[in-house]
Amino acid sequence: MKLKTTAFGSSHAKIILFGEHSVVYDQPAIALPLYSVNTTVTLTATNTPPSVTSNYYNGPLADLDNNLLGIKELINYLLDYFNAPTLQFNLNVHSTIPLERGMGSSAAIATAITRAFFDYFNQPIDRATLLQIANVEEQITHGSPSGIDLATVSSEKPIWFIKNQENQQIDFKITNSYLVIADTGIKGKTSAAVNLVKQKLANSESHRQSIEQLGQIAFQARTSLAKTTDVKVIGELMNQAQGHLQSLGVSHPIIEQFCTLARLNGALGAKLTGSGLGGCVIALTDNLQTAQIIKNNLNAIGATETWIQSFANYDNQLEEHLE
Ligand code: MEV
Repeated sequence: MKLKTTAFGSSHAKIILFGEHSVVYDQPAIALPLYSVNTTVTLTATNTPPSVTSNYYNGPLADLDNNLLGIKELINYLLDYFNAPTLQFNLNVHSTIPLERGMGSSAAIATAITRAFFDYFNQPIDRATLLQIANVEEQITHGSPSGIDLATVSSEKPIWFIKNQENQQIDFKITNSYLVIADTGIKGKTSAAVNLVKQKLANSESHRQSIEQLGQIAFQARTSLAKTTDVKVIGELMNQAQGHLQSLGVSHPIIEQFCTLARLNGALGAKLTGSGLGGCVIALTDNLQTAQIIKNNLNAIGATETWIQSFANYDNQLEEHLE
């Protein structure tokens, strides 16, 4: 078989609309691909020892820092998988997804690397294999993730996600709406946030009820997303979800400040997205002008980056089930 000299893999960021944390406890979640924020990986065959170039690290694969251990182990796993332990190559990772902000950066990098190796070895990859291999990285980086990050960064469509079940597409009929996504600039460690929630649940019935409520909110949101008229309901559900996430201890004063400002400027709802304790806030509007006002005002109070994502891209006809 003739191998390529250069191979590619890509992936994009994810946004959890409903269900972060409760998804760890078998409740459903709704997550959206964020196509405009993405990762591309270029694998080039070389005649020097394996190396990585990226915004975060440049140097030999062997010296990759401990906080990138998941990536290193994933690459070693792929070299074993393709029976190519002596392959010499450079991996160039280019990602516009900020690290540790709840946008699935590690899952997107793992997905893009896995795709690049399969491209290099001229092998197609099915979704189940992709999720299983990329999870080598996620297990090391995040402990015991639910799998929602990998499932969303490798999906072209919004997904209905329940841990250990096949992901489904959802009917997405609210198209005239926009999400403003704002990065607080504060790193939120997923494993720390997941552990915090675990401790809270061990000691309190009301926290266990919050998890149940977050699951109920996801069910209601699924019904509302399938109607063209229910955008206000979605906003209200986002506010309710934020209340539960706050009581579970994973909000942050800056997250609360961003949510309040977004609502004061016309957002129908606002909440954290991802594991919290920092990371990003999402705010929903039913028109682009309001989204732009919110974006500008969040920038003015210190958001390190902001994006606007139209819901129009998510409309689908439920043609297929995702594997
Ligand atoms: C992280 O993006 C989402 C969490 O629910 C953790 C997980 O599902 O693995 C906080």
